[in-house]
Amino acid sequence: MFALANLIARLTVGASFIVALAAASSSNNPFNVTPFTVNLSAGIPRLKAIVQNTRLPAKALYPVGSDKGIELDVLRQLQTEWVTTFDWETQQSELNQLSHFTAVIEGQSVHFVHEKSAEPDAIPLILLHGWPGN
Ligand SMILES: *[C@@H]1O[C@H](CO)[C@@H](O)[C@H](O)[C@H]1NC(C)=O
Repeated sequence: MFALANLIARLTVGASFIVALAAASSSNNPFNVTPFTVNLSAGIPRLKAIVQNTRLPAKALYPVGSDKGIELDVLRQLQTEWVTTFDWETQQSELNQLSHFTAVIEGQSVHFVHEKSAEPDAIPLILLHGWPGN
């Protein structure tokens, strides 16, 4: 029940947000809606070094199948993949195929993606996640 109420509250907030942005586009852009490009490239070498230099425990704290976080073997595989084969630039390039924007709402910069459907009768869909700042 909480999840449904939470979802409805978020959709309501999201719908208000979109209406506000629509109104903003017909005035002088009071929300400072600005095109945005994902670009974390400068921080990737440091992040990679942190992941590479992170020492994982020799033995898992919880048994395999526990609901207490990620399994140690999976974490080891991810660590190796992130350091050796993961290509951030490709991921970033794919993300940037979408139309990203930022808007300033009550002093907070809000990042969003706005993609229009090719279907003329498409039902608008708003996908939101988490709380602001995560
Ligand atoms: C990201 O920023 C770097 C400079 O830090 C620049 O060289 C690169 O072209 C930028 N990439 C994109 C996708 O904007």
